[in-house]
Amino acid sequence: MKPTTPPRTFRVKSFGCQMNVYDGERMAEMLAQKGITPAADGEDADLVVLNTCHIREKAAEKIYSDIGRLTKGKTQKKAPMIAVAGCVAQAEGEEIMARAPAVSMVVGPQAYHRLPEMLDRAVAGERSTDTDMPAIAKFAALPERRKIGPAAFLTVQEGCDKFCTYCVVPYTRGAEISRPYSDLVAEARKLVEAGAKEITLLGQNVSAWSGENDKGHAVGLAGLIRDLAKVDGLARIRYTTSHPADMDDALIAAHGEVDKLMPFLHLPVQAGSDRVLRAMNRSHTVESYLRLLERFRAARPDLALSGDFIVGFPGETDAEFEETLSLVGEVAYAQAFSFKYSPRPGTPAATMDDQVAREVMDVRLQRLQAALNRDQHAFNEASVGRTCEVLVERKGKHPGQWLGKSPWLQSVWFEGDVAIGDLVEVDLLEAGPNSLRASVREGALSLA
Ligand code: 5AD
Ligand code: SF4
Repeated sequence: MKPTTPPRTFRVKSFGCQMNVYDGERMAEMLAQKGITPAADGEDADLVVLNTCHIREKAAEKIYSDIGRLTKGKTQKKAPMIAVAGCVAQAEGEEIMARAPAVSMVVGPQAYHRLPEMLDRAVAGERSTDTDMPAIAKFAALPERRKIGPAAFLTVQEGCDKFCTYCVVPYTRGAEISRPYSDLVAEARKLVEAGAKEITLLGQNVSAWSGENDKGHAVGLAGLIRDLAKVDGLARIRYTTSHPADMDDALIAAHGEVDKLMPFLHLPVQAGSDRVLRAMNRSHTVESYLRLLERFRAARPDLALSGDFIVGFPGETDAEFEETLSLVGEVAYAQAFSFKYSPRPGTPAATMDDQVAREVMDVRLQRLQAALNRDQHAFNEASVGRTCEVLVERKGKHPGQWLGKSPWLQSVWFEGDVAIGDLVEVDLLEAGPNSLRASVREGALSLA
């Protein structure tokens, strides 16, 4: 590669999960600290960071087509300097370097604190790859949080030791690590000072977080949540994603006792057949999952439930898929994500016998999504008539319209004299499949 002038503007394009969104924000902060400014909408960027996801489908192929579009002037007039970050970078770093000469940096999710040095090398004409892991040191090396929206993310835990047989995360994000308690409390305070009213604690296995509090006592996620609830100015706490095996009594109790902990639980089940769950190495049964939900609902009766599902895991029969539908019928999720099984290179399921035909998966996914959409709409309908607080997150499509989230993570829109970051009390008036219309209660503006 030829030496080049240092980039003046950048764009970070994040794909996939919320942790990638968090990582993307942190990379943006680092680049800003180096004096590079975010490119305005519609303007060419001198540096593009593709922050990739490897969890499903042909994510890697998509990256090559994105790189092609960037270099051939289809996305912007001038070809930018390109960095590939995220889980595809981790899994296929060498291959990307060999296949895509236009890429000057490949940086894994545990190594992106070294992006500024890699950038200096790229300017000098040298390509570099850094996919070292794990690196909890990354967080210490990142700049302080500055400007942030009202709903912020905070990564508390990374990696996964569960090894579900379909999943690439234990390979791309590595073993489970928990960030230290004191760092998290400090970062949460910084986020609140920077304007956050709501914090979502993130981790591939967030419920496996553990640490030592300021008194030297071992605490789990519930202990962390209770202490974060004491941070002045923080109004709402959420967490995602949990695994049924790590949900303890303390977390269930916190849902009943901590007002700032929102009544929402994302607890993936993946399938409704015990045989499939065993083949997935999920370590829970349908029965144990349902009993767990019962305990959460007893602690917090208005809890909204969310889940993840995979259809067409190798060997899944029609009858086993029907069991997934009956589980859905029993739980009545407020929202959920559902996917066709996608073989991930290097995972045990990718080489299992009886891979399910694509057409069969298509039909199963359609049926499952119809059931999940029906339940989501029903949940929204059942909310009509409720009064609740909404955190105003952004302007709506039409002038005077605002969008925010209910405690149950529903999108709510309304008109009124409010500002982004306000917590407003609203009456929920009308439900659609994906959002609710509301009206602001007179004199109900509360600045938490
Ligand atoms: N194929 C399809 N879906 C997958 N997920 C994880 N790995 C795969 C895969 N190989 C889904 C799971 C997980 C969510 C984040 O992505 O449902 O909970
Ligand atoms: Fe993947 Fe299973 Fe770990 Fe979730 S718990 S990240 S699905 S291996």
